[in-house]
Amino acid sequence: MCGIVGGVTNQDITPLLLDGLKRLEYRGYDSSGLVVLSKKNSLNRARSVGKVKNLEKNLKARQNKIKGNIGIAHTRWATHGEPANHNSHPHISNQVVSVVHNGIIENYLELKDSQIKQGYKFTSDTDTEVIAHAIAFSMKSSNTFLKSVQKAINTFDGSYGLGIVSPKYPNIIIATRKGSPLVIGVGKEGNYIASDQMALLSVTKKFIFLEDGDVAELKLKKITIYDKDGNKVERPIIISKIKEGQVDLGDYKHFMQKEIFEQPQSIRDTLESRITKETVVVSAFGGKANDIFKKIKQIQIVACGTSYNAGLVAKYWLEDIAKIPCNVEVASEYRYRHPLILNDTLFVTISQSGETADTLEALKIAKKINNKIYTLCICNSAESSITRESNLTFLTHAGPEIGVASTKAFTTQLVALALLTCSIGVINQTISKQNEKAIVNGLKLLPSLINETLLQESQIKKLAVRFKDKNSALFLGRGTMYAIAMEGALKLKEISYIHAEAYPAGELKHGPIALIDENMPVIAIAPNDELLDKLKSNLQEVKSRGSQMIVFEDKDSQVKSMKAMEVIQITSNLGRITAPIIFTIPLQLLSYHVALIKRTDVDKPRNLAKSVTVE
Ligand code: F6R
Repeated sequence: MCGIVGGVTNQDITPLLLDGLKRLEYRGYDSSGLVVLSKKNSLNRARSVGKVKNLEKNLKARQNKIKGNIGIAHTRWATHGEPANHNSHPHISNQVVSVVHNGIIENYLELKDSQIKQGYKFTSDTDTEVIAHAIAFSMKSSNTFLKSVQKAINTFDGSYGLGIVSPKYPNIIIATRKGSPLVIGVGKEGNYIASDQMALLSVTKKFIFLEDGDVAELKLKKITIYDKDGNKVERPIIISKIKEGQVDLGDYKHFMQKEIFEQPQSIRDTLESRITKETVVVSAFGGKANDIFKKIKQIQIVACGTSYNAGLVAKYWLEDIAKIPCNVEVASEYRYRHPLILNDTLFVTISQSGETADTLEALKIAKKINNKIYTLCICNSAESSITRESNLTFLTHAGPEIGVASTKAFTTQLVALALLTCSIGVINQTISKQNEKAIVNGLKLLPSLINETLLQESQIKKLAVRFKDKNSALFLGRGTMYAIAMEGALKLKEISYIHAEAYPAGELKHGPIALIDENMPVIAIAPNDELLDKLKSNLQEVKSRGSQMIVFEDKDSQVKSMKAMEVIQITSNLGRITAPIIFTIPLQLLSYHVALIKRTDVDKPRNLAKSVTVE
């Protein structure tokens, strides 16, 4: 996700822009840039590939320093066009207007064609440049900056958060958003814009959240906002509760609890700019993803712990939906077993931190074994060792995960893997347009479905009491729910220190059923899918051995009618992609509440570290 920061102040704006960019770095970037309006009213631009500190060096090295009171800046995560200076923002049209953009302009090719005919020259491969030219064009026939922008944005399909400056209007920044986040910071020394309030915390705690379609005109001492119909509107000023340094608990008791409840937002952030109305954006995996996905014949996923469990879910999706063979393995084994790796393999690492030693080493070894393979990492940390080692990167935008037990990183990894499945399927024509649309629609529903599921917390809390004196628990699922059962068992082990195992429900009779008695709680996940009847038979086998059972079901699964089981209804009509993500939530809540009862150190469980950078 790209980051935007900008402002009009009575001080030099450049240090503030740099500080803001640094605060946005965790969201992912491959280049950054800024434009400042100089005293002589020209657009002064600096852009650099890589970290913000490269831009900082670039600025320091200049003889003519970039200084002024008004400017816009951007960290870019490439979607249209490779990471390169010429594709970095801000983009400029004919020295009359400069733009930073977050989002995707879906009709940019169409706009580009007509702008080329109008005589505009393109200097980048981005969709954003059409925005700059469109505004420059409408400035010719509009008598205010605001009107020029209002006219231009009417021609855009897609999503945008925009910061715009022009030397023709040297005291104004225009900000507008549709589908992408943009906030206004109201400060003592000026007024600001950013894609995330985090970027402005050093200058203000007062924020105005723009609504879809709003256009705002910012001056040093005045902010005027117009809605999508051009009517002047007042939007409330909210005082941010976020403390500097972000890692603040707010109203929560633990980071794990906070991060469980942040999942609707982290999924929204992960999807932003990665889907359009009906399609997946394949280039979200990198500029070369399209070509690479065409060439691959199989996928090898390697990861550890929770990230490995995400990979297990993806195996079902990739083979069943995208029709591509897929293996999944824990990195600590893979790196030592001298695996055979075929050409045309997409080697996928999944890692929250991007620094897990086993995963990093497995990736390096795989590249040594066969240097023809393609590598992709799904990672929550933009500038990590694993991202640097990979051809392609997809950043999950979960935000910093502080609790040692991974929660929002897992569900955003699943979202990333769902997008991967869909992208590969679309490119190889194993997924129809209709299915692609259905998957995209399902993903869009996730935040509200998760919010609905989180409402079950009080019911789950009551069930947690049952685990107070238990030493073991068994988690059952079939299909993708087996992988979710594994994740549920891992969470319980990690933070409540109760031994927990996951089994595919059909495998019980081959041994583990011997463990079942009244002291063994069994947790089962029962979505309404093609394996439901088989699962119900497995549950009867367990029940008749005296187990205390807890079943999380779809409203249509009808397990509730089976006697002597505690059944919690989660939601209904979940698809193959959404179901595993949604059924993760009650298991996270269960382990959290069991840990509270057992009074363990929820956020820092014994013997564990957030990022395992040693073997
Ligand atoms: C479990 C957990 C660990 C990590 C594992 C891999 O809650 O957090 O199992 O998933 O150590 O870490 P990353 O994803 O950073 O490579």
